[in-house]
Amino acid sequence: MYLALLSGKNTEMAKDEIFSISSSFKETNLNGRIVVFDSCKTPDFSLLGLTHEAGIFLGKNIEDVDFNVFLSQNIKISVLNLDSEQNSLLFSKEIGEFISKKGLKVDFKSMDILRVYLTKGGAYFTKPVFVQDKKEFAKRASPKRNFFMPTSIDSMVARALVNITGAKKGATVLDPFCGSGGLLLEAAAVGAEVYGCDIEDKCVNGTIENLEQFGYLVTAVTSDAMDVKKVFKKKFDCVVTDLPFGKSSKMLKEKQKLYKDFLYYVLGLVKKNGRVVIGCDEEKLDYPKKELFLENKFSIYIHKSMTRHFFVFTKK
Ligand SMILES: C[S@@+](CC[C@H](N)C(=O)[O-])C[C@H]1O[C@@H](n2cnc3c(N)ncnc32)[C@H](O)[C@@H]1O
Repeated sequence: MYLALLSGKNTEMAKDEIFSISSSFKETNLNGRIVVFDSCKTPDFSLLGLTHEAGIFLGKNIEDVDFNVFLSQNIKISVLNLDSEQNSLLFSKEIGEFISKKGLKVDFKSMDILRVYLTKGGAYFTKPVFVQDKKEFAKRASPKRNFFMPTSIDSMVARALVNITGAKKGATVLDPFCGSGGLLLEAAAVGAEVYGCDIEDKCVNGTIENLEQFGYLVTAVTSDAMDVKKVFKKKFDCVVTDLPFGKSSKMLKEKQKLYKDFLYYVLGLVKKNGRVVIGCDEEKLDYPKKELFLENKFSIYIHKSMTRHFFVFTKK
């Protein structure tokens, strides 16, 4: 069994992201930011955007911990207090005494780490297998790209959306409103073959430049999203996009009409059973219910006047 420490801001989306990259995911315990789960195959945690840490779950009581999972006799104890009233230092001391009684040695320099999460719902013991490298995502953050657009979403959220679409290595991914290419950049980083379109020339050129900056290729064209079938003449494994909203995006049609028209048009862009992930500023969407199954919906608070809503559909 595995344990993941999810992003505190976007916990539901983070959980769905893990679910999307696991096989036969079975959640056994969810406690705030902690999820304990089973997966047939060890998930590739390094692909995740919204999981901060992950490890092999060893139990909720120190008595249950199988110390054979550690390679050496020297164990480093690392406690993270999430929301427990328990004193972390005293707790570490007690764990240290228990370990010593077992004939093992507490050694803060050891690479063998017993990571403990203290929560109101008790302690969770793990052997860590993954710690997220936030600097890697920061490198691709919007202000670091050659072509900057203030509307581009956070790169870790973009990665989660890409994973939720099921975009794996070699999958074809389309963003028909690609802006500065923030979503395509994360799709390319997981090994997908990426395609974009935008109504603005400067965005198309900016997307190509941004992907090039990080060593990725993209096929991007200037087109109205509602004409893109004529350009690409094929269906994609998945579509992930953030629809135009507010004042900063040039709107060709009235926003709600564009949203609705696009949700019907997208049926011709994605393969059967393919995912369509749509970000927008509408809480409800008018979509073809016979053809699209709404799997999930997430709302992300951006600032006081803006919440973005993300809809996850599967094409039936
Ligand atoms: C919210 S922004 C996308 C931001 C993008 N995800 C990023 O990372 O930069 C929406 C984009 O849709 C484009 N757009 C607006 N109407 C369009 C249309 N009818 N067809 C294609 N693109 C359109 C805008 O030019 C804008 O770049």
